Amino acid sequence: MSGSDKIVVEAISKSFDEMRALDEVNLTAKEGEFVSIVGPSGCGKSTLLYIIGGFVQPTHGVVRAGGKVVKAPGLDRGVVFQEYALFPWLTVSQNISYPLDRIGMPAARQREIVERYLELMGLTQFANAFPRMLSGGMKQRVALARTFAYDPDILLLDEPFGALDAQTREVMQDELLRLWRTNRKTVIMITHDVDEAVYLANRICVMSQRPGRFVAEFDIAHDTSLTREQVVLSDSYRKWRNAVWLSVREQVTGLKV
Ligand SMILES: Nc1ncnc2c1ncn2[C@@H]1O[C@H](COP(=O)(O)OP(=O)(O)O)[C@@H](O)[C@H]1O
Ligand SMILES: [Mg+2]
Repeated sequence: MSGSDKIVVEAISKSFDEMRALDEVNLTAKEGEFVSIVGPSGCGKSTLLYIIGGFVQPTHGVVRAGGKVVKAPGLDRGVVFQEYALFPWLTVSQNISYPLDRIGMPAARQREIVERYLELMGLTQFANAFPRMLSGGMKQRVALARTFAYDPDILLLDEPFGALDAQTREVMQDELLRLWRTNRKTVIMITHDVDEAVYLANRICVMSQRPGRFVAEFDIAHDTSLTREQVVLSDSYRKWRNAVWLSVREQVTGLKV
């Protein structure tokens, strides 16, 4: 895929006290790429995403986003955290409109977009509810709506669909695909769901056990004219799914198969 480098992770290491979480990790995502990161639990995936987001400082190495060295969080990088991270003092609507306000969108347009996302996420009845009144799956939908709605160039997603039921997950995945395809987003998404990675991403990077580093990479391309059902039944999909599974299993069990 051509295009300029949007995210460049250069030899990032991160230690927490004596414990080494990441070891000289390199990763480049070009504009318009959808990269999925899979790997064993505790290998440092979330830590890497927080570093790219600017929420955690690396011990060594540097991250560039859109050519600039990342030093802090920024609205160019929309993040959906594993633990939702909603503002507890704001309602569902206010949580979604918060970044719209920060980017200076006129109030009438904000209302339109908030309404569209409330509907898409099945949250219309909860527009005025506070996060503490919502289930985990609903909080996750609000967090996704908040990030999708303001349409940042870069999406950093940490297991964004984990708490959702199967039907809702498919709706959200397809909305993410639509955003990515129509607006040429750069996406980095962590998931533990190999099927999700193979269905959504155009590149899958497999991480080793801690200290995490990338050990395998798969380029994926589905025929975009196919429906989801046709994609998952295709030979190429099954071939990729199998190859990624074997690679992840090798990392989890330490056994080569
Ligand atoms: N703030 C922190 N302080 C100390 N240890 C941490 C901190 N954040 C993460 N870790 C540790 O770093 C390792 C990697 O964590 P994490 O990035 O959350 O892994 P993953 O997302 O791949 O499951 C784990 O052993 C975790 O306990
Ligand atoms: Mg994690």
